[in-house]
Amino acid sequence: MMGKDVNRDKIIKALNQALSLEIGATLQYLHHHWTGEGYDSPAVLELFEKISRDEMKHMEKIAERINYLGGDPTLIPAEIKKGGDLYKMMQDDLAGENMAIQVYKTHIKLFDESGDPTSRLMMEQILSDEEKHADIWETTLGIKK
Ligand SMILES: [Fe+2]
Ligand SMILES: [Fe+2]
Repeated sequence: MMGKDVNRDKIIKALNQALSLEIGATLQYLHHHWTGEGYDSPAVLELFEKISRDEMKHMEKIAERINYLGGDPTLIPAEIKKGGDLYKMMQDDLAGENMAIQVYKTHIKLFDESGDPTSRLMMEQILSDEEKHADIWETTLGIKK
């Protein structure tokens, strides 16, 4: 039983780290949507809002999973980068996506090793969204992989 609890605590801790990233991403994208300016901005501003909704869905899924496992879903956002021109905003958003991709890959491995296929599957689906988001910014910024 002891071992199970240690596993559960590790899983909840990892999920709360992911939740912080999702809260931060939701707020960062929203702030970029509210404050971004530029003559060629409407398409990018719409993307900020559209992606913020994806991040909010991730946030809710992870929070519900933490609650189901008996943990307390955090309300603390990870670091939020705001300000600057659209170019800087997109670079900051790409950096955030890349960070999430890195962290979630570690989490997926942890959930697999901890015998929690449900959390693993959820994070795999979220990871796939983050890869799509990163791809959007790489394409828009003209970054080659
Ligand atoms: Fe997300
Ligand atoms: Fe994302």
